[in-house]
Amino acid sequence: MTGVRLGTSEITIEFYDASWIFDHFDLVKSCFPHLGHVDLEDVDLRVQGRSGVVVAKMGDLPIGFTIWYETLPGTAYIWLTGVVREYRGRGIGLQLHKTLLRYLRDEGFDAVWFKAAKSKYRWIKRHISMGFRIIEHVREANVDIYKLAMVFDGKRVVVV
Ligand SMILES: CC(C)(COP(=O)(O)OP(=O)(O)OC[C@H]1O[C@@H](n2cnc3c(N)ncnc32)[C@H](O)[C@@H]1OP(=O)(O)O)[C@@H](O)C(=O)NCCC(=O)NCCS
Repeated sequence: MTGVRLGTSEITIEFYDASWIFDHFDLVKSCFPHLGHVDLEDVDLRVQGRSGVVVAKMGDLPIGFTIWYETLPGTAYIWLTGVVREYRGRGIGLQLHKTLLRYLRDEGFDAVWFKAAKSKYRWIKRHISMGFRIIEHVREANVDIYKLAMVFDGKRVVVV
């Protein structure tokens, strides 16, 4: 568990295995109203390999999460990152990603990637500053999407 102070509030960040998703599926869905196709079977299939969730909590209350799983060996995919609406814009999303990146690097992963809508300009810029690079542009359901990836070199501290 790591502690993060945001304003006057103490927010903790904790690591869980993928079973957390099944217990908090309503929370996950509430952050992604357009993810109608994602059901528990879909989640189950995705998290069969190495996988997990980093959760931001205010006391016992989960207020943000980032869900990841291994795609190719040594490569982690950050699938869903969500912060409860009233807690957005306070750095929690970025803190979740930074915490996950350090964890993945320490666990010996070689690379990590995620997708972001092109419209999330500042979110994308912040990740580029952290060491991510745009590797592909795709169009999904009429939305312009960038794929961003970062390769860990084992020596350089890429996450600030
Ligand atoms: C995207 C999301 C996780 C960001 O969480 P957050 O805690 O509000 O983000 P942070 O406060 O850490 O913001 C970090 C940076 O990203 C930017 N950012 C955050 N949300 C953004 C958005 N929706 N569009 C564009 N930029 C955004 C912030 O402006 C900030 O950059 P800045 O410091 O240069 O201003 C949150 O808005 C969310 O849950 N959205 C709904 C689900 C979603 O779309 N997830 C993204 C999947 S890639």
